[in-house]
Amino acid sequence: MKWTIDSWQNYPIKQVPIYNNGNELKNVEDELSLRPPLVFAEEVRRLRRRLASVAEGKAFLLQGGDCAESFLEHNANNIRDSFKVILQMAAVLTYGSSLPVIKIGRFAGQYSKPRSSPTEVIDGIELPSYKGDMINDMAFTKEGRNPDPNRLLMAYDKSASTLNLLRAFASGGMADLNKIQEWNLEFVKGTDEVNRYIEIAEKISEALTFMKACGITPSNTLQLRETEFYTSHEGLLLNYEEALTRKDTITEEKGWFATSAHMLWIGDRTRDLDGAHVEYMKGIANPIGLKCGPSTDPDELLKLVETLNPTNSFGRLTLIARMGASQVREKLSPLVKAIKKSGLAVGWCCDPMHGNTIKASNGYKTRKVDDIMEEVKGFFEVHFDNSTIPGGVHFEMTGQNVTECVGGIYNVKEDNLSDRYHTHCDPRLNANQSLELAFLLAELLVNKRKSN
Ligand code: PEP
Ligand code: CO
Repeated sequence: MKWTIDSWQNYPIKQVPIYNNGNELKNVEDELSLRPPLVFAEEVRRLRRRLASVAEGKAFLLQGGDCAESFLEHNANNIRDSFKVILQMAAVLTYGSSLPVIKIGRFAGQYSKPRSSPTEVIDGIELPSYKGDMINDMAFTKEGRNPDPNRLLMAYDKSASTLNLLRAFASGGMADLNKIQEWNLEFVKGTDEVNRYIEIAEKISEALTFMKACGITPSNTLQLRETEFYTSHEGLLLNYEEALTRKDTITEEKGWFATSAHMLWIGDRTRDLDGAHVEYMKGIANPIGLKCGPSTDPDELLKLVETLNPTNSFGRLTLIARMGASQVREKLSPLVKAIKKSGLAVGWCCDPMHGNTIKASNGYKTRKVDDIMEEVKGFFEVHFDNSTIPGGVHFEMTGQNVTECVGGIYNVKEDNLSDRYHTHCDPRLNANQSLELAFLLAELLVNKRKSN
């Protein structure tokens, strides 16, 4: 069957809400299809080129942001702080990897969630699960959990204003490398525990001082004061994506672009070869991600890769492995080996979050910073063993000082989880935990380079 922007509708679909007001939904979809695109085709093509470099080992990918963005917490400070931490991490990873770092936020559209269970029971009352602010409300009431089509328009509006601010930050002074380095120096001087990273931070300072002495400064060098920043989200709600799927009217180049974000990914629960999500994604020209959990079968993965990347081009497809610290070596190796043997062109990225979610004794959903780092290490080991490219990392994080993941230098304990547990879905790394992981990763990369 020929691909069209709505051909996904002929395939079985998982994880999408059932709306009970068809007319209202149709009106919203019509309205969305008239709204301007959020991103521009040339940016999308540029990200594909950047991700091709990632797949070929010439750049490193840092993807991060909320598990689920929230309407309530949609404000300038939150956007600024998350952007700031990603830039701080990127500076450290640039040093660690000696490569340009491609920055992609789980921002400006990450408003819908697949859930393990379609319903939730509290005190004997069963209601639909919360599916992200683009679908329903966190509030555990019948009305709140009812999917509301108007939320699609709200998600579009919030995404547009987030993106506007991100673009301003990226080119308006927030990305000045000297300033980012000052923030990182503040971080490493924080406590005795972080002091071990001072060496890396000082090396970055020395590099900047050297460049300054050579006359290369933020005021005369664009690369030191501006950055490229891309957006991404899970492409779960295909009616929303379809309404924002457009042709490139400038170059009139053939092809359709999802314009809700630069990159979309397919979740671990919706990666069926014959399902609607794979059908939609296979026809758009954007770079796409495919989450690969422990149930991913090597043969099935090869078929998925061939379907999603029929021209076998680097930059089109990034496989985002999320196996869990205890199984990453065992589960990832067969996939990496199969892909290597097949000669299929993919990039590899490590999501060390989704395979490491546990329930604390007090009932909070959490993740241990140590498990997260352990999975990252396992991911790198598998790639080093197979002489393949560990292209990057994918974190759920925030710039806020939340207490959602346990461990880290400031040792968030299970008992502290209730202090500032704000996530709308999965537990995120806070700003300090995120930076700590970036430094640990940089250490690992530097040591690997030295041992080569
Ligand atoms: C996510 O990235 O928030 C998510 C739900 O991931 P996965 O599909 O890998 O479970
Ligand atoms: Co998540």
